[in-house]
Amino acid sequence: MGAAIPVIAIDGPTASGKGTVAGLVAEKLGWHYLDSGAIYRLLALAAFKHRVDLADEAALAALGQQLDVVFADGKVWLDGTDVSLDLRREETGNAASKIAALPAVRLALLARQRAFCQAPGLVSDGRDMGSVVFPEAFLKIFLTATAQARAERRYKQLIEKGLPASIASLLGDLQERDTRDASRAVAPLKPCEDAVLLDTTMLSINEAVQFVLDLALQRGVGQTG
Ligand code: DC
Repeated sequence: MGAAIPVIAIDGPTASGKGTVAGLVAEKLGWHYLDSGAIYRLLALAAFKHRVDLADEAALAALGQQLDVVFADGKVWLDGTDVSLDLRREETGNAASKIAALPAVRLALLARQRAFCQAPGLVSDGRDMGSVVFPEAFLKIFLTATAQARAERRYKQLIEKGLPASIASLLGDLQERDTRDASRAVAPLKPCEDAVLLDTTMLSINEAVQFVLDLALQRGVGQTG
């Protein structure tokens, strides 16, 4: 291994705000950002497109190795098509959670995620960033919030994007997704031993971002801008 590239790993349940916080921390530091959930969501979209069964582990793993994905200008492209909106749909997230429980799928997507680790540094968010993908991360955060707060946040995000949503069904879906993500045999959603817990139920986005930046600073990483 060459000189270690610093990684901040932010894990947590769905709609905990980890994506927003991780993206802003990356921006403040001038570092790269990996939304690892998007990789699982992209594979789910590719499976829909190629009519691959969500339980066909071998076919999904093969598809995962060939995914033609581009992240550019705040948009996400799959096989040359802009899928930014479809990516955020609830059915895409639910399908992603199902395929993410399959060990061969997780393995197939590992190298793709690690490839985002580039100088000057990386902020990554997901479920297993600190435990499996970047165990060497110098700062690991487990970000959470109550299910009700998360359902309300997700509702706002979807409505702002013009996508259909109901708080009651979102709450049911995210509790189901939490249970599946936390109880799977491989890389289950749970805080690493060396993770710092951050409950954002009562925090603004800026407060959560500042909390992470302060910790990074304490551990020797400064702001560049
Ligand atoms: O963070 P998200 O809602 O975009 O993630 C979608 C699904 O992908 C989530 O329910 C579980 C899975 N996932 C995972 O298993 N491991 C990750 N590192 C990121 C996401």
